[in-house]
Amino acid sequence: MLGLKLLTDPRWANIAESNLEEILTDHAWCEQKAAANVMYLIVNNSEHLDLIQKLAEIAIEEMQHFEQVLAIISQRGYTLGRERKDDYVGQLMKFAKKDGSRNTSFIDRLLFSAMIEARSCERFRVLYQNIADKDLAKFYYDLMVSEATHYTTFLGFARKYTIDVDVDKRWAEWLEYEGELIQSYGKSEAIHG
Ligand SMILES: [Fe+2]
Ligand SMILES: [Fe+2]
Repeated sequence: MLGLKLLTDPRWANIAESNLEEILTDHAWCEQKAAANVMYLIVNNSEHLDLIQKLAEIAIEEMQHFEQVLAIISQRGYTLGRERKDDYVGQLMKFAKKDGSRNTSFIDRLLFSAMIEARSCERFRVLYQNIADKDLAKFYYDLMVSEATHYTTFLGFARKYTIDVDVDKRWAEWLEYEGELIQSYGKSEAIHG
């Protein structure tokens, strides 16, 4: 799925479902961080107007996702906990190239973004296919579709705007790295846990 090297064990969905308040809190902050990442790309790449227009759309969508998760937390009488650290994303960030040309860093930031979208999409798929709660299953299905389009957008712009990066080769490296990394996860009630 989306080139991912390792698919999530469906039993992770049971872990998630066993603590909905926690997974919803973690998920809410994932959406907020996705919006913040898009804002970072907007601020640093103003020369690509078509990219900025598309990113403006995505930032709004991520904040809508945030709003939707907050509504579910509220409807169920849960509380939104403090921001959760995302160790998985921290490990991906370490792999992103920051010391090459400006274009190298830009393209790798797009691939970093595509990588998170791909895994998030896969995790939403596991949730929608495995959790018993029908309302949440529908919600996760919709998010799976939305994050898949974000993945395609980030990868598409990386291919469009590359100057000095072989995007297919670098994307293959990202998939390899992520495939190794994700082996340590799948054990906690977090979207990337
Ligand atoms: Fe999202
Ligand atoms: Fe997204």
